[in-house]
Amino acid sequence: MEIEAAKQRTSIVIVGHVDHGKSTIIGRLLADTHSLPQGKLEQVKRNCERNSKPFEYAFLIDALKEEQAQGITIESARVFFKHNNSHYIITDAPGHIEFLKNMITGASRAEAAFLVIDAQEGIQENSRRHGYMLSMLGIKQVAVLVNKMDLVAYRKETFENILSDYSQFLGRIDVNPIGFIPVSGIVGDNIAVKSKKMQWYEGHTVLGILDTLRKEEPLPHQPFRMPVQDVYKFTNFGNNRRIIAGTVEAGSMRAGDEVIFYPSGKKSRIKSIEVFGGPAKEEAVAGVATGFTLTEPIYVTRGEITIKANQPRPRVTSRVRGSLFWLGKEPMTKEKDYLLKIGTAKVLFRIERIHRVINTSTLNSIERADRIERHQVAECVLKLNRAIAFDLANEIPSTGRFVIVDDYEIRGGGIILEDLEDNQAWVRDKLFLRDYKWEKSSISWEQRAESYNQKATLILVTGEKDSGKKPFARSLESRLFTEGKMVYFLGIGNVLYGLDADIKSAKDNRQEHLRRLAEVAHILLDAGIILIVTAIELTEEDLELIGTIIDPSRIRIIWVGEKVSTNIIYDIKVSPAEDLERSVDTVKAMLQERGIIFRPG
Ligand code: GTP
Ligand code: MG
Repeated sequence: MEIEAAKQRTSIVIVGHVDHGKSTIIGRLLADTHSLPQGKLEQVKRNCERNSKPFEYAFLIDALKEEQAQGITIESARVFFKHNNSHYIITDAPGHIEFLKNMITGASRAEAAFLVIDAQEGIQENSRRHGYMLSMLGIKQVAVLVNKMDLVAYRKETFENILSDYSQFLGRIDVNPIGFIPVSGIVGDNIAVKSKKMQWYEGHTVLGILDTLRKEEPLPHQPFRMPVQDVYKFTNFGNNRRIIAGTVEAGSMRAGDEVIFYPSGKKSRIKSIEVFGGPAKEEAVAGVATGFTLTEPIYVTRGEITIKANQPRPRVTSRVRGSLFWLGKEPMTKEKDYLLKIGTAKVLFRIERIHRVINTSTLNSIERADRIERHQVAECVLKLNRAIAFDLANEIPSTGRFVIVDDYEIRGGGIILEDLEDNQAWVRDKLFLRDYKWEKSSISWEQRAESYNQKATLILVTGEKDSGKKPFARSLESRLFTEGKMVYFLGIGNVLYGLDADIKSAKDNRQEHLRRLAEVAHILLDAGIILIVTAIELTEEDLELIGTIIDPSRIRIIWVGEKVSTNIIYDIKVSPAEDLERSVDTVKAMLQERGIIFRPG
């Protein structure tokens, strides 16, 4: 049932300037098509009488959300609606942010939009901005509702002036409206019933235009995309089951399909599709929240995207060209970190370059700006602080759109236009092949962790030259060994003459040197070992490289010595020169705290 409904429901968002009548129109549409719950209309009318305030159709929407007391539409309200055997969800999006949220993180992404313009007030800046956002987010079916026609005596000229001005604007942003409808939400003109007061108008009513909407590019036929929301572990009867959960954003999958997770590139096969508290399902399609188990136990994390092995791959990189919409009060600048959310991935980023900014109301553009003001759209290059998987917005919109979070609030959003090469591109290509060809052990990392009583971890010991890294690393190794841990110390020099024998100068080939070291670490971690490696003055860039090769959550950084001479972000700083034993104690306590080794009691 749920799958069928998700396949057939058309989702419409209603946007426009404050008070232009969005909620009234939806309320009226529901009332005139008898779509309201029994008695709701009467109840709301009675409430108004009792509080001696005039009845508003907009209250119906609020009443449906039981937020009537506030008198304004606070958050996107979703209304389910059926007409002529078709199902619709109409989302009342009162502001820019609500609209963005709904389009990008919302459960139902609009395929069509109603843009409301008040006939008396005329086109406002927001009318244009919303139009721009619809265009940017790729919503092709836009109907313009010119509302409050009753306030302009149902005059044809008023309607036609708006039609001509706004059509021109839409033309410039490549939106081809499916219709302009003169309406009155309050009176009910041209909502569900054709108005007798506007005989000059021959087009559809709002209800009528619903029948003309096409269910756009049927999502189940796109390549399969499911961002991983969570990984749940269940242990029953000694049987470890891991369910990977998320919402299918595009395409569909069935049990038996071979899947790959990106950006890690790990591969497995779907064993079963799980439904909480229900029987297993055969298929999961776009729009449905689902979970599945895999035939092989592999380690995947939130933020990765699941795809089918025989379908086009997503892009993976830490540099992208995008078009973004900024809504923050303070301008967006190059000096600041922002958080990007795409699918279920979250990543910090900075603006590397602003190609141009556009005023979304006037459509004027400025080349090479150095900041992005509120309500501007900018085409820019974003440098993410780690690589993520995504698609280009024009290929698979739902995994190509993002929101920007600043100070815990959504302050912008946008689309990805192009994936750009980053510093790690050369490593990543090797890596995909490695993981693709990797012969997986039948012993899972959890089984190893349980048996060895430790979580495989790479401990990077770094610091200035002669700060005592090696003696410290050796002491840590001995201590952990004595306590029964599977631990191994690998001096970075140890790989120079063997593994790196073909590299002339490790100094000039630092990147390749680090890549090989990380690959060795990857193998030892796979074996379940705690590996201690010393290296001089590691930087964040070095760590970025190592973290591309091994899961960054398995790496701990220890800085040795008082003075920190690089930009690396470490877990803990120690001064073994002063007291070696105490430094080892400190690190051991940290490992216990992070659950890497067991803490008694
Ligand atoms: P926000 O959610 O705050 O952005 O407003 P909105 O666009 O949802 O507008 P709403 O439906 O709340 O209507 C705003 C005001 O305009 C209300 O007082 C309505 O009664 C009035 N209004 C809406 N439609 C019409 C109309 O067709 N004619 C007249 N005369 N007034 C209308
Ligand atoms: Mg409203």
